Amino acid sequence: MHLREQEQHEEDPQRCDPETVTDEGNLETHSGPELGEEPKAAAFHHAEGHVYPSLLGESLLTFGELLIAEHRKKRQVEFRKMFQLQKGAILQSNWGTIKHDDLVGQQAGKFLKTGRGAPIFFRRASLEDYVLYMKRGPAIAYPKDAANMLMMMDVTEGDCVLESGSGSGAMSLFLSRAVGSRGSVLSIEVRTDHHRRSVKNYERWRTSWALRRGQEWPNNVEFLNADLSTASSLLAGRGFHSVALDLIDPHLVLPTVLPHLHPGAVCAIYLANITQVIDLLEGLRCSALPVLCERIIEVPVRQWLVAPALQKDGQYCTRKAPNLGEDTSSEEESSADGEALFEPGFGNVPYIARPHPEQMSHTAFLVKLRKFVSLKMYTFICLNKKC
Ligand SMILES: C[S@@+](CC[C@H](N)C(=O)[O-])C[C@H]1O[C@@H](n2cnc3c(N)ncnc32)[C@H](O)[C@@H]1O
Repeated sequence: MHLREQEQHEEDPQRCDPETVTDEGNLETHSGPELGEEPKAAAFHHAEGHVYPSLLGESLLTFGELLIAEHRKKRQVEFRKMFQLQKGAILQSNWGTIKHDDLVGQQAGKFLKTGRGAPIFFRRASLEDYVLYMKRGPAIAYPKDAANMLMMMDVTEGDCVLESGSGSGAMSLFLSRAVGSRGSVLSIEVRTDHHRRSVKNYERWRTSWALRRGQEWPNNVEFLNADLSTASSLLAGRGFHSVALDLIDPHLVLPTVLPHLHPGAVCAIYLANITQVIDLLEGLRCSALPVLCERIIEVPVRQWLVAPALQKDGQYCTRKAPNLGEDTSSEEESSADGEALFEPGFGNVPYIARPHPEQMSHTAFLVKLRKFVSLKMYTFICLNKKC
């Protein structure tokens, strides 16, 4: 587990230090809208110095909300930080500071300038942002993997799901959202410190959500501090639509878990190493548990860099026509101007379009186990029911 944590922090350059500034760099310009520039069709209106939202369901930023601040340089995110809006607090960065008080009452998705003139983009933190930047105990189930686990498990609103270990609480949050207010999640964690961390992360998200939306995030996760392999008494009388396991040696907890999984339902398992997958399958072979291994997958996500090609001076490159005899002097004059940005017409700019040089490589293997009703079990049930 520790190894997995180390590897993944190295692999993901934007996540070396949760909740802190991620990179350093110099002041620069950005390609976003000019500060103070309002949308052409006004999406909000001013009255007596106040901004009022005018889109149905839109709300302005308020204290307690979780935001992401971002500064980009040459298409790269140079600075990204998650923070909670607090009265009197100041957002610090290498590009200058911004008072939290100046953000309250603003629309989300806005650029504000620091005292040093650097534009910082502010938006609300998504659940994906939150789990990536929240304070961690152990490594989390990455959002791309968590999404695939939810699909494997076919999690539906109203489901009752078992999860273990709670870890940092990332998977618990995704499950909480998927089962909704009519569903429930039982999350079991053996380590007290991890148990506490997952509860804190869950509660922090719920609190900020209530402030953002003015309504409660479902209180549908029961966190228990226990060893799943010996938790039969805690599971007594319970039945689950699906199970998500993210712990070492999952084959050791399956005998405890499987009697409580609905027949025909899925147990999805998250494993960092292929050797752990082999151990799991070998464990299943030797224990003859009533599960079929349906799939073993890895979820690759490949980021691409697609953007207009720029010259060193920041001007757009232009497509060169094949006619070598053509006079291109007017183009060069414009680009040498240096003042106004040369705006070639539609289709005249070549694009960079290739896989991004920084990729997050391996995160996990996902194993999909489906419970079947064995003939032996069927006979046992029938005999007991005298059918
Ligand atoms: C990688 S973390 C889980 C991360 C979690 N899925 C998340 O998204 O934040 C694995 C956790 O499983 C816990 N664990 C290991 N064996 C366990 C067991 N037998 N019962 C309960 N928890 C266990 C560990 O203490 C650790 O916190």
